Amino acid sequence: MENLLSVPIKDDIYFIGTNDRQTPLFEGMWPLPNGVAYNSYLIKGDKNIIVDLVRVNTVSVYMNKIRELLDGEELDYIIINHMEPDHSSAIKAVLDIYPNVKIITNKKAVDMLNIYYEVTENIEVVKEGDTLELGNRKFTFYMTPMVHWPESMVTYEEATKTLFSQDIFGGFGTLDGAIFDDQIEFSKHYQEEITRYFINIVGKYSSQALKALQKLESLDIELICPVHGPVWRDNPQKVIDLYTSLAKQETVDGCVVIYGSMYGNTEQMAEAVAKGLAKGGIKDIKIRDITKTSNSYLLSDIWRYKGVILGSCSYDNNLFPPMDYLLSEISHQRMKNNYWGIFGSYSWSGGALKNLKKYMEDGKYDVLDTQLEIKGAATDEEIEALINFGKEMAAKILNK
Ligand code: FEO
Repeated sequence: MENLLSVPIKDDIYFIGTNDRQTPLFEGMWPLPNGVAYNSYLIKGDKNIIVDLVRVNTVSVYMNKIRELLDGEELDYIIINHMEPDHSSAIKAVLDIYPNVKIITNKKAVDMLNIYYEVTENIEVVKEGDTLELGNRKFTFYMTPMVHWPESMVTYEEATKTLFSQDIFGGFGTLDGAIFDDQIEFSKHYQEEITRYFINIVGKYSSQALKALQKLESLDIELICPVHGPVWRDNPQKVIDLYTSLAKQETVDGCVVIYGSMYGNTEQMAEAVAKGLAKGGIKDIKIRDITKTSNSYLLSDIWRYKGVILGSCSYDNNLFPPMDYLLSEISHQRMKNNYWGIFGSYSWSGGALKNLKKYMEDGKYDVLDTQLEIKGAATDEEIEALINFGKEMAAKILNK
């Protein structure tokens, strides 16, 4: 009888992942409007092997999938590529049912298995380039440190040319019915979510991600099985290209204007700047209200747009607090391919521009010399100056 809960992928490799539509924030901070999938794979054969697990909050659905597929057979191995709890916290439930299973992972994951789950036995450690024959399958392991945790690794299965890539090539968004790249409208549902996932979760480790991608270049990959997002069987190169472009932080000739405003005056300044950008020939312009937009989306915009303009009102002689928070997040991301512009507003003693300026200087950002500071609502002359400031940024972006 056909298995109803799992999805066959190729040659007895099955998808047994779960969807999470309940968790509002990934890692407690990144919004999940479209949920997230925790992908897991079960390979049947002389030995039954799971590659990567799921988050414990979906474990009852998960265990049903395993039980149906194994139908009374033993589970022999679990390969753990990544220990973040969205892929490891189901382990206790699996060990309860299959206590003799052997865990295959790397040295850095061993301590994590202990500190999170007090799992210390039946562990076989693999290292860079090791090949293991498990029953009729042969696996090779490649370490991908800090993409995005120290113990991160990927596993290559030789017969099917499958790369189990852990978080690499993953994205936000549940898998709604379909799991394969050729079954979905990628540009409509997943492209943005893979992009946002990369920038939020992996972005700060871009140089390590590029090293990992270079390492994987030598593999003959026909199938990519990541731990989030679609399984790539039709065109794996498409997601490899997208990830490579993101890891290089390739920017587009557009500009995002992010403003913090309490009563609308700074918002009107942002409108004037955007008008100048348009007059200067920029077609891709986005204005974002910092109080209404999660840093998750703001960081995505900053990563992709060549031009970034930050405008902040002053608050208690300092920056508007949401802008302060965004700046701390920008520092973590280590972005390198942007042109920056700043402006501030105040009512009595200032604080916004002074702090924006200091941040730009300390971080050695490529920032425009024109840095406007406006008291109260902008006058006609100041609106004109803001428009010209937008034009100046446009010329810089378009290299005029
Ligand atoms: Fe999807 Fe790094 O966990």
